Amino acid sequence: MSWISDKAAADLGRVRDAQEKQIYPYFRPFESGGLHTTIDGKPIVNFSSNDYLGLTNHPKVKEAAKAAVDQFSCGLSSSRVQATATEHVELEARLAKWYGFESCLIFTTGYQAMVGTIMSLADKETTIVLDNLSHACILDGTFLAAGTPMRAPEVRFFNHNSAKALDRVLRKRERKNALVLIEGIYSLDGDEGEVEAFVEVCAQHENTVIVCDDAHGTGTLGRGGRGIIEKYGLEGKIPVVISTFSKTFGGIGGILLGESDVIDLIKHNARSFLFSASLPVPIVAAASTILDMLEADGEALVSELHEKAGYMRKGLTDIGFDLGDSNTHIMPLMLRDETKAMLMHVALLENGVLMVPIMYPAVKQGEERLRLNVTRGHTYEDMDKALELLKRYGESFQLIGERPAEIAEG
Ligand SMILES: Cc1ncc(COP(=O)(O)O)c(C=O)c1O
Repeated sequence: MSWISDKAAADLGRVRDAQEKQIYPYFRPFESGGLHTTIDGKPIVNFSSNDYLGLTNHPKVKEAAKAAVDQFSCGLSSSRVQATATEHVELEARLAKWYGFESCLIFTTGYQAMVGTIMSLADKETTIVLDNLSHACILDGTFLAAGTPMRAPEVRFFNHNSAKALDRVLRKRERKNALVLIEGIYSLDGDEGEVEAFVEVCAQHENTVIVCDDAHGTGTLGRGGRGIIEKYGLEGKIPVVISTFSKTFGGIGGILLGESDVIDLIKHNARSFLFSASLPVPIVAAASTILDMLEADGEALVSELHEKAGYMRKGLTDIGFDLGDSNTHIMPLMLRDETKAMLMHVALLENGVLMVPIMYPAVKQGEERLRLNVTRGHTYEDMDKALELLKRYGESFQLIGERPAEIAEG
């Protein structure tokens, strides 16, 4: 036995325990794509998917991907430096126009887009200022930059979604330039970023630039689905936006938006872009087809999502569930107990509904929840079924009804 086997045995205690009790909730394999799929041959409705407009499995998207397989197969066998297809370039131009930016660069994942952007922009003259509930890609990009001797920016956190705390941190920063990293929607809590307030605060500080990760705002916020900037009319006020193809756009891939020189700087410096293979063309074709749909019918698609999200929100609050700070289509069920979250997940799954638990270390202990995302692809029958099961098991597990005093007060 080597030390790595010892380490695995020591660190996997919680995982092995849950697996032995048969309540381990992760990596369950689907047998087909889509919000309506099967696990172990049993039909399930997936409420933990990020396919927000329900377009991932649209026949036109599949057709476009199949045609691209005939032309390009599934890989270009190198990084974008020597493996760029005309489809990449065309989609970048269309995305830049649709989002209202000068330029766009497609990465192979959104995670890589964020890490590469932070690594390219932050150096010894920079203070990175980030929300203390930032997504892993923001944290990892920050820590990588901080730990790279040639870059080594200062790093400062501010309290989640607090413009006051951001202002305080910006006042105290020690480096000339500030790179403020925020999100359009925080995906574990389902709350919108206080982006308008952040823009105002940043405007009062010299050399302060915002980068906004709008992975969950694309297709869900703004009348046409262009995200948090469209919703609050912040065009021209946030210089860099990052999004993804892995949610509304039906595949995988990162979207980086900004002015041409900044995008070119990142294009020539981001190691996560330069040293990783280019996005396969069938995926580009799928995203491009979804962009066609957003251009043609964006308002109708987004408003259908909002109607369904409103229906589910009312149902959940009528039953008495605590949705934490959520004010979007992402509505975590705050169960605040690890065992109850896992048991609830199993009870729902047995009845054909998938809601994956989110637990420590993804969230603090005592803040355990089930991931519940409403999408346009869910039917009202799907939602009624989920609500009925949640009421039944919520009562059985004493998750609704009388709330514990400390939660009711908090
Ligand atoms: C807020 C946020 N940013 C970035 C990403 C990464 O996107 P991708 O799946 O394209 O790597 C995700 C996906 O989980 C996300 O939730």
